[in-house]
Amino acid sequence: MSATESSVGRPAPGWGRRFPRDEKVFLVIILATTIAMTAFAIGWVIWGSQNVPTTTQRVTPKEFAGQVQAFVDRYGAEDGKAWVPPGDDAYMLATRYTWYPELVLETGKRYTIWISAGDVLHGFSLVGGHQNLNLEIAPNHSFGVNLTVGDPGRYRIVCNEYCGLGHQEMTSFINVVTPAEMAAHPPKEAAGAGTGTAGGTAPGGEVLKVSADPSGKLAYDVSELSAPAGKVTISMANPSPLPHNVAIKDGGVDVKGPVVTTGGTSTVAAELEAGTYTFYCSVPGHEAAGMKGTLTVK
Ligand code: CUA
Repeated sequence: MSATESSVGRPAPGWGRRFPRDEKVFLVIILATTIAMTAFAIGWVIWGSQNVPTTTQRVTPKEFAGQVQAFVDRYGAEDGKAWVPPGDDAYMLATRYTWYPELVLETGKRYTIWISAGDVLHGFSLVGGHQNLNLEIAPNHSFGVNLTVGDPGRYRIVCNEYCGLGHQEMTSFINVVTPAEMAAHPPKEAAGAGTGTAGGTAPGGEVLKVSADPSGKLAYDVSELSAPAGKVTISMANPSPLPHNVAIKDGGVDVKGPVVTTGGTSTVAAELEAGTYTFYCSVPGHEAAGMKGTLTVK
């Protein structure tokens, strides 16, 4: 036999000796670990409350954004959050790079939250509150998540699916409050649907009209606006499936209109002196992507 090692040739004598003791101990440890981990994985599924019951519906991004806006029109409060009384469903739209709207729920009550994505795949992850909720949120499907949070508090939502350059900014909160706090924020009757104003004053003076790009591009239909000094109001219609708002900044001014989605109108007003200002969308990532313009006041 040749001394060279070969996979077909006869092995060198003595290679097939019995397992030494340390090898046997090692095999027993491996076997025990495998059994323990398998049992743990099975138990995790059965007793770990890991599998959140969800229902799924097919819905286009535009339809879903319309449902979300109708929900915000009814439950949206002055603070920009949606206060959802027990017994009603909540809605949340995931788009780059925001969760819309921020929800307020009542402690100890079971809610169904419908979540969908308006653009790309996102990951819904609720941190704390004795919850362990991780869901992939895809466009064209609305995921109904059943959720009960016991202790009042502010629980963070993060996106755990890489969705673009602003991914790490994509956080929000689910607020859990006492019944008394919830009772202080009753739903609105269906009136003045789809509109909201910020800036302290009712619209008046010069009203400038802007529209968000209807296809969902991060842009307005105009990039230049001008108005005489005094009260300036910008009213932005949003026909797109994404949440947007209109805001004014620079020259010591910093006012933001409410965020709205399909069918909503965001209005912002400010007393402006002559100068150059920026109007923009304050949803994270949108201004950086080009959703802004110049407002010249003379
Ligand atoms: Cu959305 Cu990452």
